Amino acid sequence: MQPEKNDMPERTRAAVLISLGTVAAIAAFLYFFYVWPQPAGPEQPIPFSHNVHSGVKLIQCQYCHPYVAYSNFPGMPPVEKCLHCHAYIIPEFPWIRKEHQYFNTDTPTPWVKVNYVAEHVVFNHQRHINSAVACEECHGEVSHSQRLPQKIWRMGYCLECHHAKKASVDCWITCHN
Ligand code: HEC
Ligand code: HEC
Ligand code: HEC
Ligand code: HEC
Repeated sequence: MQPEKNDMPERTRAAVLISLGTVAAIAAFLYFFYVWPQPAGPEQPIPFSHNVHSGVKLIQCQYCHPYVAYSNFPGMPPVEKCLHCHAYIIPEFPWIRKEHQYFNTDTPTPWVKVNYVAEHVVFNHQRHINSAVACEECHGEVSHSQRLPQKIWRMGYCLECHHAKKASVDCWITCHN
């Protein structure tokens, strides 16, 4: 009976430690998931600011991403489009000179993609734009961003909104084809 007597506090202590550990792990998870600031996305070849262009200067999203409502590819502005304005606006600014260099050497600006969908998922904007889902509902406050954050789209994000808006959740048919 002697071992029994010594064992009990051991086990209780272990149980307490395990539950404290679990609580700490959950707290850490919640903290990192909800509180930790979103890290800025990858550095871009030119520090393009949506805040300056769409927030302050109020340039429409579709001016630079013109096919978003019609095609599977929203479109990225070609260098020429930047130079429409920047041939006159701050043309000597170092980043704008870099843009001129891209233009003169026929090099598309190597923008780094930040939004990805998980594999095997087909996403296109058309249905969404046509049902009046705002860019911000999916992309966040783009016009307040200096640098867009990286976002990997998992099915949970898609489904959360599809449930809320009563859109189709028949995933195999609608998304995986
Ligand atoms: C419709 C006009 C317009 C177009 C198109 C445009 N810009 Fe601008 N851009 C502006 C204006 C206005 C400013 C603010 C200039 C100032 O601060 O005096 C600006 C500022 C900038 C700046 C520096 C200021 C900062 O704080 O970030 C960069 C870099 C820049 N633009 C890059 C680009 C690139 C790259 C493109 C193409 C993808 C582009 N712009 C397209 C009008 C435009
Ligand atoms: C003056 C041109 C311009 C305007 C206006 C503009 N964008 Fe962009 N957008 C860009 C450029 C250049 C990039 C690539 C660099 C970057 O990611 O910041 C980009 C990237 C993006 C991306 C990330 C693409 C990826 O890699 O996944 C999203 C999302 C986006 N824009 C949404 C918007 C929305 C929403 C608006 C309107 C609020 C808008 N843009 C207005 C030029 C523009
Ligand atoms: C229902 C959610 C949703 C809405 C609404 C939405 N987007 Fe997107 N957007 C996405 C997803 C998901 C991706 C990544 C797609 C991919 O990688 O194929 C994306 C990618 C992009 C890209 C990058 C495309 C590329 O070629 O890499 C741009 C630019 C963009 N969106 C602009 C916009 C603009 C502008 C609007 C509003 C007019 C908008 N989006 C509305 C979900 C959305
Ligand atoms: C912010 C809300 C929202 C998000 C996020 C969202 N969707 Fe949607 N989706 C909608 C709405 C609203 C419709 C339109 C339903 C309709 O037209 O009846 C729709 C329609 C669709 C359709 C067409 C459905 C059909 O019956 O033809 C597909 C496919 C789709 N979404 C895929 C996706 C994928 C994949 C993602 C994630 C990458 C996603 N959606 C994220 C709101 C959203």
